Amino acid sequence: MLQPERGLRLAGKVAIITGAAAGIGRAAAVLFAAEGARVVATDIGSVETPGDDWLVLRHDVADEAQWVAVFEAAIERFGRVDILVNNAGISAAVPVPLAEVALEDWRRVLSVNLDGTFLGMKQAMQKMAGQGGAIVNIASVHGFVAAANTAAYSTSKGGVTMLTKVGAVEGAKMVPPVRVNSVHPGYVETALVAARFAQRPERRNHVEQATPLGRLGVPAEIAQAILYLASDESSFVTGSALTVDGGYTAI
Ligand SMILES: NC(=O)c1ccc[n+]([C@@H]2O[C@H](COP(=O)([O-])OP(=O)(O)OC[C@H]3O[C@@H](n4cnc5c(N)ncnc54)[C@H](O)[C@@H]3O)[C@@H](O)[C@H]2O)c1
Repeated sequence: MLQPERGLRLAGKVAIITGAAAGIGRAAAVLFAAEGARVVATDIGSVETPGDDWLVLRHDVADEAQWVAVFEAAIERFGRVDILVNNAGISAAVPVPLAEVALEDWRRVLSVNLDGTFLGMKQAMQKMAGQGGAIVNIASVHGFVAAANTAAYSTSKGGVTMLTKVGAVEGAKMVPPVRVNSVHPGYVETALVAARFAQRPERRNHVEQATPLGRLGVPAEIAQAILYLASDESSFVTGSALTVDGGYTAI
């Protein structure tokens, strides 16, 4: 039997994705483009593009002026912004107990992960007013459950979890609405995690054992969840926190 023809899931949409040079952001950018989106790929480092049709911008998400410039450039090139994926994130350079966290390191993680998400949402809410849109914030399982030696990271992700809900409540009142949701990955094979496991190899074993599916995820598996929340298929979903963790938080 013939399947009904299905259109591209993000046809006609313009999407800004931060931290798009690597890992989860990269996978989301590639998937979004394959689903018909015009992609604005931003990163503090350089982004390799598969073609001329991506707008690539250098962008430190912790800097408000750079956020203004990113939205202006996106609108100048593509006319509008429909989707924002706040993906850029860092963890502390060295995992240490709370009692030893340097204030400077605490502020660095909070400034990228939490300030960066807030600043992006602020611009998106302004620019999506009167047209609607979707914001997807990449939090973490550590926005829900703690791990030792992750004070700044886990706190930043807890903040992103709540900021998402505030944004959702405000965005729901906008006409058309701006939907705001968060994705909460478990452990995923990316540079961020590789760096952590390089410092403590026994940690990989522990994580695999603590994950019911028995393995780490891959970036493409997180990108699928981001795609769902960014697309019109999730039109009645806002304020939700979608866990994609191989069951890590189920036990
Ligand atoms: N990998 C995991 O296991 C995991 C688990 C839960 C949540 N996350 C979250 O997913 C997101 C992506 O993580 P990843 O694992 O793909 O990381 P990654 O390190 O592979 O990629 C992160 C990207 O963000 C960029 N970046 C860093 N600081 C930036 C800044 N100030 N401004 C703009 N870009 C910046 C980096 O250059 C890099 O390209 C992060 O928010 C992370 O906290 C990851």
